Amino acid sequence: MTKIIVPSKNTIKQAAALLEAGGLVGMPTETVYGLAANALNSKAVARIFGAKGRPAFNPLICHFHSLNQIPDYADVTEQARLIAHHFWPGPLTLILPKKPGCGISDLVTAGLDTLAVRVPSHKVAQDLLRAVNVPLAAPSANISGSLSPTTPAHVVESLGHKVDMVLAAGACTVGLESTVLDLSGGTPVILRPGAITAEDIEYIFGFEITYAHSEKGTAPKSPGMLLKHYAPDTPVRLNAIDLEPGEALLAFGSDKFMGIKGGGAAKDLPESMRRNLSESGDLHEAAANLFSMLKNLDRPEHKTIAVMSIPEKGLGIAINDRLHRAAEKD
Ligand code: TXA
Ligand code: MG
Repeated sequence: MTKIIVPSKNTIKQAAALLEAGGLVGMPTETVYGLAANALNSKAVARIFGAKGRPAFNPLICHFHSLNQIPDYADVTEQARLIAHHFWPGPLTLILPKKPGCGISDLVTAGLDTLAVRVPSHKVAQDLLRAVNVPLAAPSANISGSLSPTTPAHVVESLGHKVDMVLAAGACTVGLESTVLDLSGGTPVILRPGAITAEDIEYIFGFEITYAHSEKGTAPKSPGMLLKHYAPDTPVRLNAIDLEPGEALLAFGSDKFMGIKGGGAAKDLPESMRRNLSESGDLHEAAANLFSMLKNLDRPEHKTIAVMSIPEKGLGIAINDRLHRAAEKD
């Protein structure tokens, strides 16, 4: 049975011992829950891929308690230091040149000569990282391709007994996976949009930052940028301005005047068919709610999940990125 544990000094010690012994721990972070293993132990890392059903060509992010821990494992370039000072600890992952012979399992990097590094801000993640004092490889704690977990219950629903212990610290405040910024060579580029936006990074660097878009038929820049990802089982329809009969609604802002084709109003749908990411149109609130509300509406009796449009600015870019992937057909 998976142990779902309230974090305390004692239980964090237990989790650290489990990790040292090659176990897998559900670790809360400010973005989503991670499935953590000792990044220096290939057997433990292999268990992550097994538990998630994740293809081995998709590399993992290594988590550290501080920037000071990283130079043993990756080259902290001038650009990396500058950006880390502004956004760490926090929801930002940097792709850096990996130090040869650093001890990180080749499974973590899927054979690449770069390493994804992140210093999370969540208190429990910080305490756990300090207690183990080795880098922790941690992808989102869900079956590969499904929605990322933002609560401890999501972790257990998705992975069941495949995770040895879950440190349960409530819902994640950001709710979307970290921004992935590639600083490993040439011009910095965002491989995955997140809560730290291109504008935030431009402000620090003083030059334009672009998003790498994965398009059909082109090789993804980041192995994890497969178009279909983060997907519920129910089909997702974007930019809905009205509903078809049988559709569930994921609203953003007011849905007061939204109609159902053939008669009726969205506002009269039963609670089970209707969620609102943010009635006031707040993008941070919408990001935090996105994955759990998609899960709430993901039921076989719903023909489709119709999603109202989200403005393509700031955090809306990351929300729309996840929604487009959720809407992508197999
Ligand atoms: O917020 C997050 O980043 C969460 C929490 C747990 O920290 N983690 C997470 O991990 O979302 P995961 O494995 O689901 O996503 C990692 C992403 C993937 O898209 C992967 O392809 C990319 O980072 N990535 C990892 N290493 C890379 C590398 N060396 N080069 C390019 N992309 C890399
Ligand atoms: Mg993931």
